[in-house]
Formats: sequence, structure tokens, C-alpha cells
Amino acid sequence: MTYAALTGWGKCLPPAVLTNQDLATFLPTDDDWIVQRTGMKERRISHVAGLELSTVAAKRALACAGLDASELDFIIYGSCSFDEHVPNTASGLQAKLGAHKAAAMDVNTACTSFLYGMSTATAFIQSGVAKNVLVIGVEHISKFMDWSNRNVAVLFGDGAAAAVFQATDKPEGVIAQKLQCYADARQTLRVRGKGALYSNTGVWYGDTRWDFDGQEIFKKAVTGMGDACVDVLKQAGVTIDDIDVIVPHQANLRIIEAVAKRAGASMDKVFLTVHKYGNMSAATAPVALVEALEAGRVKPGGLVLIPAFGAGLTLSAHLIRWGDRVTPIATSDAELPPCEKTGLQMVQELMATKTPYERSERGLMDVKFIEAL
Ligand SMILES: CC(C)(COP(=O)(O)OP(=O)(O)OC[C@H]1O[C@@H](n2cnc3c(N)ncnc32)[C@H](O)[C@@H]1OP(=O)(O)O)[C@@H](O)C(=O)NCCC(=O)NCCS
Repeated sequence: MTYAALTGWGKCLPPAVLTNQDLATFLPTDDDWIVQRTGMKERRISHVAGLELSTVAAKRALACAGLDASELDFIIYGSCSFDEHVPNTASGLQAKLGAHKAAAMDVNTACTSFLYGMSTATAFIQSGVAKNVLVIGVEHISKFMDWSNRNVAVLFGDGAAAAVFQATDKPEGVIAQKLQCYADARQTLRVRGKGALYSNTGVWYGDTRWDFDGQEIFKKAVTGMGDACVDVLKQAGVTIDDIDVIVPHQANLRIIEAVAKRAGASMDKVFLTVHKYGNMSAATAPVALVEALEAGRVKPGGLVLIPAFGAGLTLSAHLIRWGDRVTPIATSDAELPPCEKTGLQMVQELMATKTPYERSERGLMDVKFIEAL
């Protein structure tokens, strides 16, 4: 039988930090509220496009795997903040890497996009469609954030990570998985102003208003991820005690604690990044996985459990059997260009160039149209 081993990993975090105190300079919020309700202290704001973040992450992951880009058969680009929709962003990454023989596609399941991409890569490899697949999780959410809405503006940040999957006959990579979507709750997280519905309507494309029912998402995330963890453990015939590290999607520390409890795990098994990066949507789980490896939390031959959820509401849990190698074969010298601005300066610029969506007549018409959907 063919398996898909995870042989390379790399991340790229933009350097500019946006702290809770920065947010409190333009929103009615404060550090105490954000820390107590979410566990977040700071997040990153990108000065470059998502494609640049993912190119650096991809070069680092390829070096880690000891693989040349020309050997890639497939590139899967997971995101919900594509720089452009046509052409797809995966083809842009292919061009940047010189991965001339690869096929390339974008995947959007919001925060779970990297993980749905990981399932797809595994299926391509196991079915013989591909041998070497690059999967990206990247977001440039700051560009379409509604920075006037404290309910959502405090929760998200930018970032990217990449992983290389390669065919092997050793029983490695994803050994059990659960993918699901609570479509009945899809209206709990909707970004108005982003998509073809809004193009050529008089609404400035990218000028957004977020519909967000945080409490409903919270409940569904806890039950969904908790149960998905139990499901994959059962599929693999292992118990929570056999798991070396849990690397969850990081949307809220309280959600993570509740999921760990529901899955029967203690928090010392859980790897956390939520305090320093917030929720980077598709980039969250892969960045946390890279940092878990860097911190020595992934053991040779160990089991890694990754539960996640996102808008849709999409859900996933993956159980990965790691290979022998937990360190990179080589490192890449790829770096982002320097950033001359602070996170707060970049956010202030984004706010200054925006007209509130509600002010547009056409925007109001679209709101009514979507409410009827
Ligand atoms: C968003 C979330 C942090 C809110 O936490 P919560 O404990 O449910 O808080 P509530 O929504 O009950 O809000 C409590 C109060 O805080 C206020 N509040 C909301 N955001 C605030 C902020 N940034 N700063 C200060 N107060 C805030 C609310 O207006 C509300 O005030 P009220 O009681 O006067 O009405 C939490 O529900 C959550 O994490 N949800 C899931 C995360 C998610 O959906 N992520 C995206 C998908 S991956």
C-alpha cells in the first residue's frame, strides 16, 4: 500500500505585530477582554501579498524535504483570502517556485483549507495521481477585515505555512481522518462584500461587512472537533493516551480547552500558538505544526492529532503517524523583503482607504439580496 509521508515543513510569519493595546487605540476593546475571552495577545499583519508569504514558506518546506520544486507533481493552495481569483493563486506559486511539471489548484474551506488540502494530497498520492505534493495554508485576512467591528477584528491575523507530502510504502502520514461540514450553520460566519455577487455593483470590492455569531460557532466548534477527535482515534484503534501532541486550529483558547476535555486529553498534550498569532485561518494549524516540530513536540514515529473548524462550517480531524525524521534535511535562505511599517500603521492605512460598506446604496441592496438566500 502507498502512504503519503509528511517530509517537509516551513512557515512564514510577516514581522509586523498588532498587539491588543494597538487594537484598543481604535476599537472599544481592551487587553483584558481579549486575553480572557480568547487567549490572544498579538497577531501579525502582512506587508506583502499572500503569494509572497506562501512562496517563502514553500521554499522552506521544500528545503526541509530535500526536494527540488521541479519534482513537484501537484500544488494545493489553501486559503480564503486569495490575492486574485483568476488566475488561481496556486499557479502563481508554481511560477514563483519553477515547479514546471506540477498541476496547481486552489482550495477554500476557510480555516480548514490546509487540512482539506492535506486529505486531497494524501488521496492523490494513494491513488497514484501524484508522488510529490506541496500543500499551502496561507491568509492575508487583514486586507478584507472590517476593522470597525470589534467582534471580529481582534480575532484574526496573517501568516503562511507549507508542507511537502511524498509517496512511501511505510505506514506514515494521515492514518485516519474525518471531514465534515455543518452547512445549516453557514450563515454564522459570512463576509459580505467579497465575491462576484459584489463585483461591478458599485460596492468597492473588498470593502467588507462581517456577519458573525461567535457563540454559535463556539458551540459547534467544540462539539464538532471534540467528536471528530474521538472518531479518528476509534478509526485508528488508538486512545488519546497514545497521542504525542495535539495541534488544534487556534481560534480561541477556551474552544481548545473544551475540545481537549471532550476528547479526554489534558492541556499539556496540546500545542498552543493562539497567544502570539491569533487565528490565521488556513495558516493556523500548519504554522502550529511547524512550531510543534521546532519545539521538539513531535517524536519520531509519534502520533499527531489535528482537529480544526472554519467558516462553512467546515470541520476536520486528522491523525498523522510521523516518520523517523523530525528535523529538516536542509534550510532555505528565502526571506520576505523588510517591513518598514508597524502593524498598527498598516491597519490605519487600510481603514483610511475604506468606505464603510453600509454607506453604499448598492451595498444595502446586496445585503437584502443575501438575506433572502
Ligand atoms: C468571539 C468570541 C471570542 C466572543 O466571546 P464570548 O464569550 O462568546 O463573548 P460574547 O459574544 O458573549 O460577548 C460578550 C460581550 O463582549 C462584547 N465584546 C465582543 N467583542 C469584544 C471585544 N473585542 N472587546 C470588548 N468587548 C467585546 C460583546 O459585545 C458582549 O457585550 P454585551 O454583553 O454588552 O452584549 C467567542 O464567541 C468565540 O471565540 N467564538 C468562536 C470564534 C470564531 O468563530 N472564530 C472564527 C471561525 S474559525
